[in-house]
Amino acid sequence: MNKLKVSSDTSAFEVPAVLDETGKLANDCVRQALAMMDTHGLVILTGLLSDAEADAGLGLIRQTVDDPDRNRCAFASQTDNRYQRRDFCSLPSSPPVTQFAATLCQRLEAVISPYCGRPHPLLEVTTLTSYLGSSHQYIHRDPSGVISMFAAVEDVSEQQGGTVFVPGTQLFDGAKHKHGAEATAMMELFRTRCNYTILWHNLKKLWGMRKSAEAPLASGEFFDRVFSTKWDEHQPNLTRFALGKNSQFSLRMLGPGTLWKLYRRRKALDKMFALIQTAPGKGTVILYQSDLLHAGPDNRAPQPRRFFSMSLARGFVEPKLWHDGYSPHPTLKAQPMSFGDLLDCPTHSAPSGVPDDHAEALVS
Ligand SMILES: [Fe+2]
Repeated sequence: MNKLKVSSDTSAFEVPAVLDETGKLANDCVRQALAMMDTHGLVILTGLLSDAEADAGLGLIRQTVDDPDRNRCAFASQTDNRYQRRDFCSLPSSPPVTQFAATLCQRLEAVISPYCGRPHPLLEVTTLTSYLGSSHQYIHRDPSGVISMFAAVEDVSEQQGGTVFVPGTQLFDGAKHKHGAEATAMMELFRTRCNYTILWHNLKKLWGMRKSAEAPLASGEFFDRVFSTKWDEHQPNLTRFALGKNSQFSLRMLGPGTLWKLYRRRKALDKMFALIQTAPGKGTVILYQSDLLHAGPDNRAPQPRRFFSMSLARGFVEPKLWHDGYSPHPTLKAQPMSFGDLLDCPTHSAPSGVPDDHAEALVS
């Protein structure tokens, strides 16, 4: 259990994006993408955005991150945010941001529609940037009932922290049929095993950073990340780990019964579940069911890792739960938008709706 076993081979979850004459994902791609979403809980659509569109997305991210008054997100890791290891913030509902979100929704309408109806709300539009020295998030589920997407607006390498997923661990009625009667318990065991490794990985990394020239620790950062009593679910915080105050991973999850099961079922766990790490190229879009086990790894490269991200509800969402679990920008809270609104509004693309470098991929 000393090293996280992660596969870099994501080919089984990828669909090369081909657009039809209306600029939407072609039928054959839709069929493949839906099959992957159902079976694995995610799909990686390569080349969905043209270079020019990805550049426009990157511009929106830069504009937001450069704004000193940006709206920082209250999830992921507040401590990483505080020490500039991550910069997760929501994007305002400005016309360019809404048009960019609309482009993604309209292009992927046939993949999203089976999950999200037109009246269902847009929960957030955010940008997720991580820098050298960030912590590896614990393997976790986001609040259920949501379809989330990450758009790579530039190439993201594994070293930069492309998201890791555990395919097939989304919560659905057929999970017991697929993985056996103990499906949920086995997923939790797998998650515990991964998070044990992630705790030690983060501690070891932080210890090394004490003398690091590339990612030196700020004053008080080591204490805040290891011993603070402040709420943060994605730091190797030993105080909160020992007190059982971390809902993602704590000592109370490592009772003798669990340790015995981890040992006894180790081979079964290896057969049932596996971690994959994505390294999406520029223009790739990842769609996933929010309750699929996943984590944002640490950035181990000097280049920042940036994603454009948005989440759509699969049903009615109680506003309090929405605001607790997601980070809508104040402009989105003031004027909520639905999936249907995004399908109806103008897109970022040229009037034809088909970007130039997708032209050769058109199907008649
Ligand atoms: Fe998450």
